[in-house]
Amino acid sequence: MCGIIGYVGERAALPILSTGLANLEYRGYDSAGVALTGDELTIYKKSGEVSALQGILPESTEHTRGIGHTRWSTHGPPTDENAHPHTDCTGRVAVVHNGIIENYDAIRAELPEHTFTSDTDTEVIPHLIERELDDGAEPRAAVEAALERLEGTYGLVVTVAGVDELYATRRDSPLVVGHGDDGTFIGSDVTAFLEHTRDVTYLEDDDFAVIDDDGLAVYRDGEAVDPAVKRLEYEADAAEKSGYDHYMLKEINEQPRALRQTISGRIDLEGGTAEIDVDLPTPYLESIEEIQVVACGTSYYAGRYAAGILESAVDVRTTVEVASEYEFDGGRDPWRTLVVAVTQSGETADTLSAVRRANRAGARTLAVTNTLGSTVVRETDDSVFIRAGPEIGVAATKTFASQVATLALLSVDIGRTRGSLPYDEAVDLLGSVRQLPNAVQSVLDAEDRVKAAALEYADSDAFFFIGRRLGRPVALEGALKLKEISYDHAEGFAAGELKHGPLALVTERTPVLALLTDGARPDETRNNVKEVQARGAPVVAVTTDDGDAGSGTSEFDTELTVPPIGALEPLVANVYWQLFAYHVANEKGRSIDRPRNLAKSVTVE
Ligand code: M6R
Repeated sequence: MCGIIGYVGERAALPILSTGLANLEYRGYDSAGVALTGDELTIYKKSGEVSALQGILPESTEHTRGIGHTRWSTHGPPTDENAHPHTDCTGRVAVVHNGIIENYDAIRAELPEHTFTSDTDTEVIPHLIERELDDGAEPRAAVEAALERLEGTYGLVVTVAGVDELYATRRDSPLVVGHGDDGTFIGSDVTAFLEHTRDVTYLEDDDFAVIDDDGLAVYRDGEAVDPAVKRLEYEADAAEKSGYDHYMLKEINEQPRALRQTISGRIDLEGGTAEIDVDLPTPYLESIEEIQVVACGTSYYAGRYAAGILESAVDVRTTVEVASEYEFDGGRDPWRTLVVAVTQSGETADTLSAVRRANRAGARTLAVTNTLGSTVVRETDDSVFIRAGPEIGVAATKTFASQVATLALLSVDIGRTRGSLPYDEAVDLLGSVRQLPNAVQSVLDAEDRVKAAALEYADSDAFFFIGRRLGRPVALEGALKLKEISYDHAEGFAAGELKHGPLALVTERTPVLALLTDGARPDETRNNVKEVQARGAPVVAVTTDDGDAGSGTSEFDTELTVPPIGALEPLVANVYWQLFAYHVANEKGRSIDRPRNLAKSVTVE
């Protein structure tokens, strides 16, 4: 996720763009830039936060139109060169873009005579437009022709030197236009310009928008349409959260989009492979005898989930260690050990310390992170990005889902390279990953049911989460989420372990949240559910939708379902536990986005 702002009007554009970028910084903050439009384009770009860009901007300029961007890197590290806007060879076309151009490699190959100056996927867009202009197209037609070539997701705005119009379009990435008294604004969300106007038009996928001194014109399938203008009632703070009460709820709801971005361009279903740009050499991958995953907190549970997939796909022993407990010992051969550090922030001190231990021992290290340019990226041999977009809420939600999805793709990549994962199994797993966004959406659509259960049991003495196989890390993660934001006692157990001790804690005042999806040994867990029901505990269960859901014959107090998508069903079920935790905490009026005693990034050991 990145932030976009654009302006055309009577006022000086630079302060509007600069303030808009500062307002959008919650969407991404590793580099920023603006392009001011006149007979030539004037461009300022800088890595770092928006304040670093503001430090190099002039006091004022005469320009009354321009575009700006604050970036959360997906392709290429956060450098000045990779900051948006991106330009063509001549510097007369500039583009800001959110999303991922999946076929950028193929487009680059089509443009051998063009000079590219960044590592980004975005840069192909101005070069495509340049080619059309060179072929004699008018600017508007050149932009439209270039758009025809793009595959992937995008919200983008284009400016061309000497041209009064800004051009914009979107696909799976929002863009909204603001209608002011003295100009027209465009942003990736309304926070970009909310202090100037509350009258907005939301663009739809594949709309082609033209903004000039006369305002906004929208074309749909080539025909001009009269777009609806809506008056916003909410304040800037709510707008940053897209109208949600908390970032956590917003980020839970963002998961389908985050997952689409995570997997975009990385699945080759026909070939039975995943393409995630890991540079580990094939002879090395063929020689490994062990994979060690190191991580903390939610990332640790993502690692535990993924280890179950990795071990069978890659066919080597896979261990998962809490990073603060990690030592490179036990007679391991560093040359045959791959250490995978899973960390959303890339700055967690315990995880970095584990990476340093592995590096000192001579093992190869791989980071799986959400943050390009973070310390873990610099200190490991290679990195894979989960592309979930910035996560503001302290409770990790969308990054957990994107971590597991990325690690599942890594499993396929390594498994296929080593020849340990048969084609059919790879296709099954890839199919499961591909279905994740829609499956998660179906859970979000059923929020009312899990909310009702959360409100019914909010005052309980304690909460126990149980699951087997891939359901077990989800039980642990569900309990962590609930305890960190509600401050209630919650624990996750391997379902079979209940009867070996924890069952003594179970009463009618301790709801048990059970994961019974297919593949997570649901029949055995059902026995454990009966044990807790015999002690009066209410049971909230997630099962795989077998078509009977809602028949009114459930054996549970609340039965929630996930679609049948195979190995990743527990990951989808986890979204219910996120919503359960959220609604319990919200009912109690907790500080959900900033729970007491916790920090988003824990930079001390
Ligand atoms: O940034 P990291 O993924 O390395 O953070 C690790 C943990 O601190 C983190 O996952 C923490 O447990 C979550 N914020 C809890 O929701």
